[in-house]
Amino acid sequence: MNAACLPIDPQCRFPDDFIWGVATSSFQIEGAAREADKGESIWDRFCRRPGAIADGSNGDVACDHVHRFREDLDLIADLGVDAYRFSVSWPRVQPEGRGAWSNTGLAFYERLVDGLLERGIKPYLTLNHWDLPAALQDGGGWASRDTVHRFVDYAAGVHARLGDRLEAITTHNEPWVIATLGHEVGNFAPGIKDRAIATQVSHHLLLSHGLALQALRASGCRAQLGIVLNLAPVHAATEGETDQAHARLEDGRLVRWYMDPLFRGGYPADVLEFLGADAPRVESGDMAAIATPMDFLGINYYSRNVASADGSWRAEHSGLALTDMGWEVYPSGLTELLVRLHREWPVPPMYIKENGAAFRDMPVDDRVHDPDRVAYLAAHIAAVGDALAQGVPMAGYMVWSLLDNFEWASGYAKRFGITHVDYQTQRRTLKDSGRWYRDFLQRQKQWRSSAALALEGEQA
Ligand code: FCB
Repeated sequence: MNAACLPIDPQCRFPDDFIWGVATSSFQIEGAAREADKGESIWDRFCRRPGAIADGSNGDVACDHVHRFREDLDLIADLGVDAYRFSVSWPRVQPEGRGAWSNTGLAFYERLVDGLLERGIKPYLTLNHWDLPAALQDGGGWASRDTVHRFVDYAAGVHARLGDRLEAITTHNEPWVIATLGHEVGNFAPGIKDRAIATQVSHHLLLSHGLALQALRASGCRAQLGIVLNLAPVHAATEGETDQAHARLEDGRLVRWYMDPLFRGGYPADVLEFLGADAPRVESGDMAAIATPMDFLGINYYSRNVASADGSWRAEHSGLALTDMGWEVYPSGLTELLVRLHREWPVPPMYIKENGAAFRDMPVDDRVHDPDRVAYLAAHIAAVGDALAQGVPMAGYMVWSLLDNFEWASGYAKRFGITHVDYQTQRRTLKDSGRWYRDFLQRQKQWRSSAALALEGEQA
């Protein structure tokens, strides 16, 4: 572990305007799945599929956040973060994904945003963290070009109600996951297994992102606008030529498939060639819309990827520490990724919008000792510091996650929170990692205020 970022070390001072936050998403924490006029989402539906979720659970109650959001706001404030990243459940605010809006749903997010502002925390809103209205899936979902236009209307509707109070709006969270896991591998909602559909979905997600940005800007939006991608270095399992070629293709499909259209106006030629007839249908003007300039790029980072042509590589054999997801703890991959993004594409300021780890921790006498998570966070924050030191424009870092929550196909067994949630009682207990993050942020704030005092002194 890189010890440079332990809170006692003054080398870990970040820029005064660096944004520190915590993140969640609607489906994973909200519950209240059938409250008022909320519509069904594709994840509500997917959870009912036998075998889809490891522990057979669903998001009906989750962390019951809709009923406990004030307590959660106090938890967030107590951490001393600058920002809170959350997502809006589209079917909660527009039950059918088109037409009528739910005033109850919109009012909930309004109270949440106002509660953040009252506590001095900047709201970072994500429009699509995967819970598409099921009614839109009935019309083809993201595979249908009509959904692109529905999304633009949804973005405009949310902005009309909340936009004046938001610091930032993210269009989509991890389009690769929606396209590839949702439509090619099929282990995430909506559970389709078809590569041609998956690539069309990725194109529609990117297109709706660009068109939404244009619509929001045209309506006078002052919030920062961007997208959040899940990116990672893709290393070849061996020096062999077939593994190297495989890693290059995987990098194309994970990283360049999204970075090239967003920042260079076209899909990577090698991936298009690989896809052949499965390449997406692109209409004239689409690529220009996708490349609409952004104010920020969000990155979610958990580990590196390793590619082996025969699929034989196993994380357990790498000798590195693994999280409860079976993912390698690989902080240097984050620096490597950020430096590369900065070198290869004209990126705007970047945020880490998610970073964290699942470990099996349990409360003992009202404390949760999670030294592995503390080490993980410290090492990855240090890795962001290393990227900053190399000139990469980093604007902020957000921990995944504020709370233990519904971890998609893994259900509730995987705990990513810096706050433990007892799902029987809904009791929240800040883990040692949460305490560590709070202390770390306090140190950053002390530096900030001493810098401000020094500046005042100079000016006096
Ligand atoms: C990311 C998701 C987030 C969470 C983490 C562990 O892919 O965006 O919702 O599940 O993984």
